[in-house]
Amino acid sequence: KHVAVILGGWSAEREVSLSSGHECAKALREKGYQVTEIDATRDLASQLVAIDPKPDVIFNALHGRWGEDGAVQGLLEIMNIPYTHSGVRASAIAMDKMSAKAMFAEYEIPCAHHVWVTREDIASGKALPPPYVLKPNNEGSSVGVEIILTAEEEQNMLARDWVHGEGVMQEEFIPGREMTVAVKDGEAMEVIEILTGNHAFYDFESKYAQGGSEHIVPADIEGDLRDRLQRHAEEAYKALGCRGVARADFRYDPENDRLVILEINTQPGMTPTSLVPDAARHDGMSFADIVAWMVEDASC
Ligand code: DAL
Ligand code: MG
Repeated sequence: KHVAVILGGWSAEREVSLSSGHECAKALREKGYQVTEIDATRDLASQLVAIDPKPDVIFNALHGRWGEDGAVQGLLEIMNIPYTHSGVRASAIAMDKMSAKAMFAEYEIPCAHHVWVTREDIASGKALPPPYVLKPNNEGSSVGVEIILTAEEEQNMLARDWVHGEGVMQEEFIPGREMTVAVKDGEAMEVIEILTGNHAFYDFESKYAQGGSEHIVPADIEGDLRDRLQRHAEEAYKALGCRGVARADFRYDPENDRLVILEINTQPGMTPTSLVPDAARHDGMSFADIVAWMVEDASC
C-alpha cells in the first residue's frame, strides 16, 4: 500500500505535527508500506494531486487548525481518498471547545463550568472569579492557555497586554489529577495518569520536553473511577461520532470525587512523548502496530 503522510502544516502546532508525522512515517516504512511525506501548505490539494503513484491512504498527522478541525478532512472527502482518524463533523466539533462541551452536556458527560468572556467582562467582575483557566476555543497542545489561580494573578494579567483577541473560553479550574483515555474504534484503552512534576499543569513544555512529564499506565486509581473514565471517554467518542483513535482528557478532583472531561482530541499526538503510543504498548501493540492499524482503518 502507498501511504501519504501529511504533516507539518501552518497551525500553532506545526512542530508537534512534524514530530508525530516523522515518527509515523518511519513506523509505516518499518511495516513495509510505501510512504511519501507531504509537508502540508495551503495548496495541499495540488500537493496531493501531484503524488505519483496516487496514494491508497492518507495518514493525517496534522494537529491544530485546518488539519484537525474538519477542513482537511473535507478536502479528502471531496477527493475521495481514504484517510485516518475522524471525519469532518467529529473533527469540527471536537476542535471547537465550546461546541464540544455543549455536546458533552447533551450526553450528560460531566464538564467544568465555563463561559465565553472578553477582557472587559473580567475587568468589570462579570466573569467567573479565580481560580480559572483561559483557553483559546480552537487550539491544541495548551497553546495560549493561561491559568489564573488568585485575584492577584488576575490583576497582573489585566495589567499586561490582552492576548486573547475578541474573547476566550473561561473555565473553572479543577484542582487535582490529570488523566487521559485513548479510545480505539469506540473502545476505551487503559487509563493513563500524567504527573507534571513542578509544572502547574500539563503545559506545552511538560507535553513535549523529554522527561517533562511522567505517564503512569495503568493509572493508580481506585474503585469505580477507572470505569467512569473509560465510560465517559467512550461516550464522548460516540457523541461526536469519532473514528479510528481519539483521546479524551480529564481532570479529577479527589477531594470532591469530581471527574470532568476537558476535551476529546481527534488527532492525538504521536510524538515520542505522547500518550496514545503508551496506551497502545500497554495493550501489547508496538508504535508501528497502532500506526498500521490506523492505516488499515482509514476510510472516506
Ligand atoms: N494536540 C495534541 C497533539 C494532542 O492532543 O495530543
Ligand atoms: Mg487538544
